[in-house]
Amino acid sequence: MTKQTKKQQQNLNSLTTGIITVGLDIGYGVVKVVTNETSFTFPSVMGHAREIKFQQESIQQKYPGDQISDDEGMWFVGDLALAQLPPGELLRLRGRTANEKTMGNTFRQRLAKVAIGKLVQGMWGRDVVHLKISTGLPVDHMRDAAELKEALLGKHLIKTDSCEVIAHVTDVIVMPQPYGTAYSQMLMPTGEINVYHTYMRTGIVDVGTYTVDIALDDDGEFVDSESGSVESGVYTAQERISAMLERDYREKMPYKIIEQVLRTGVFMASGNPVNYSDEVEDALLPLRSATVNLMSEKWQRGTTVDVIYLSGGGAELVCEQIIEAYPQAKLVSQAQMANARGYLSYANFARGKT
Ligand SMILES: Nc1ncnc2c1ncn2[C@@H]1O[C@H](COP(=O)(O)OP(=O)(O)OP(=O)(O)O)[C@@H](O)[C@H]1O
Ligand SMILES: [Mg+2]
Repeated sequence: MTKQTKKQQQNLNSLTTGIITVGLDIGYGVVKVVTNETSFTFPSVMGHAREIKFQQESIQQKYPGDQISDDEGMWFVGDLALAQLPPGELLRLRGRTANEKTMGNTFRQRLAKVAIGKLVQGMWGRDVVHLKISTGLPVDHMRDAAELKEALLGKHLIKTDSCEVIAHVTDVIVMPQPYGTAYSQMLMPTGEINVYHTYMRTGIVDVGTYTVDIALDDDGEFVDSESGSVESGVYTAQERISAMLERDYREKMPYKIIEQVLRTGVFMASGNPVNYSDEVEDALLPLRSATVNLMSEKWQRGTTVDVIYLSGGGAELVCEQIIEAYPQAKLVSQAQMANARGYLSYANFARGKT
């Protein structure tokens, strides 16, 4: 994330003159941001800011753009929120409570503002930046698209620890999330058609933190009856690993450690590696079966699906089992960023057409 800053400095002048096109994937766990110049991620968490009594400046430098203020107060977001706020104060974009529609979009709007703030770091004086946002919602939440569009369109004051600008969002495109992945394969990053993608019926499986989303595209047409979501995801494995480590060591382990055990199968106990690979395999069972069940519910044995693209931060954890059942499945490269990349490609494609 610090890498982008230098490049951004060089681009600051061009930012005020041109339009920044952003592929923005606001996940339940992680926000993914891609532009034609840069890409970065940050955790989808926030909480009310606290006064930092010590090392204020170095904390600010370590988490640039993670403090934002708006009508509802001052907020810590992303890695800063994870590092400085107690778990009980962290808000996440999760669940389908009755007010998820309005709350969800306020939450998404704030995360979008943080993302924009990070893109224009170092700009002050309320200069106006023009943006075009291409984004997505889970398949089963697409009915909220109009409201999300409304929340993002127009002028927003963005005031963070590292910028103060007026963001003028002139265009918003909202698509079902897995379509991002589809466009990342069907289009070139610049928006031209990828001539090597010759499939007619393309399936997409997006394994995220809290949802597994699948979609089917038939030669450019979204097939609703063969698309859908389930509330499963990487968190199911993380919860099991967390409970198991707490049982074995009588301590609650931080998220980073749980993630490491999940990825490597090894837990470092007081400096000694302990093999947890069998337990990790067990912990992954619910995610693997939820994913394969959703696929077979929507696509049966997949005989009529020409290619299946696997994306999302959880894709590599389930791809082996999926490929066994559906040999036409492929893990896309940089799977976690695939939706955001495709949103951007699509925006570039749409611009090329007008
Ligand atoms: N830098 C990284 N590289 C690879 N995997 C990561 C990285 N950071 C997080 N992950 C893994 O990816 C998972 C999150 O995946 P992803 O970003 O696709 O979820 P999400 O989009 O936030 O969730 P959802 O799609 O349910 O809204 C995390 O739980 C973690 O296991
Ligand atoms: Mg996602």
